[in-house]
Amino acid sequence: MKPRVTIERLRTGVEGFDKLVQGGIPRGFFVAVVGEPGVGKTIFSIHFIAQGIREGDKNIYVTTEESRESVIRQAAMFGIDFQEAIERRQLVIIDALMGGRDDPWSLGEVSVEELVNKVIEAKRYLGYGRARLVIDSMSAFWLDKPAMARKYSYYVKRILYRWDFTALLTSQYAVTTSLGFGFGIEHVADGIIRFRKAVIRGELRRYVIIEKMRQTEHSLQMHEIEIRNGRGMIVKKATPYRKEDTALPSSVTARMIAAELQKILETPLDE
Ligand SMILES: Nc1ncnc2c1ncn2[C@@H]1O[C@H](COP(=O)(O)OP(=O)(O)O)[C@@H](O)[C@H]1O
Ligand SMILES: [Mg+2]
Repeated sequence: MKPRVTIERLRTGVEGFDKLVQGGIPRGFFVAVVGEPGVGKTIFSIHFIAQGIREGDKNIYVTTEESRESVIRQAAMFGIDFQEAIERRQLVIIDALMGGRDDPWSLGEVSVEELVNKVIEAKRYLGYGRARLVIDSMSAFWLDKPAMARKYSYYVKRILYRWDFTALLTSQYAVTTSLGFGFGIEHVADGIIRFRKAVIRGELRRYVIIEKMRQTEHSLQMHEIEIRNGRGMIVKKATPYRKEDTALPSSVTARMIAAELQKILETPLDE
């Protein structure tokens, strides 16, 4: 008899996305959500948490680049009430940017150890059950030591794995995708969702492509996305893609690689 595989998948709540991944992200996965600033990583993450609230999951959102208020306001623009979910103990937003000393859900310092401890504390507070985690972004944890990105990512995955999280970890970095350094999450991720942008005929366009999703027959095409006031992110049909739409001139790429190498050389080895 053939073995039967059933995989529990968590819907993202992003219109048009779930059908690209056979219905959702497999439970327990750590998925990297990557791309340049302004492409929609935070909004995608907000939808994922909103869906968790709808489905009765426990939800934790770590924000390192925006304040908690900013995340709540952004969600509200799409008709999602994070404030109410916080009050109902269904959501904790850990504010690693603005959170002060009197804020129990802030980080004393932006370190991976502190992050992991706080996330576990939040999970205990929310209680038993299926849980969603967003860390937006992971880049903040290795800003000054990019060479540590891989090790930190592995640490975070290894510890948090035991806590029944399905996690999105965002990362924003240099414009080229070919830089092989400091992109820690991808090395340990079960999935990679990449957002891209391009200016075509004077208009900003945004796209998403699933570069990896273990145990999933996923779309291999680039899809255009839209972000609409009152509604949020919408994934549209596959779009033909020309490399020159998003690629940088090679001279720029070369300078970026040189800068990355320099950073790595300046990072002490004993960390
Ligand atoms: N209420 C809104 N209506 C329409 N577009 C919005 C709205 N809020 C945000 N956006 C769009 O989303 C972008 C920000 O997306 P975001 O997910 O924060 O990007 P990232 O996290 O990748 O940097 C904004 O630059 C804007 O284009
Ligand atoms: Mg963001």
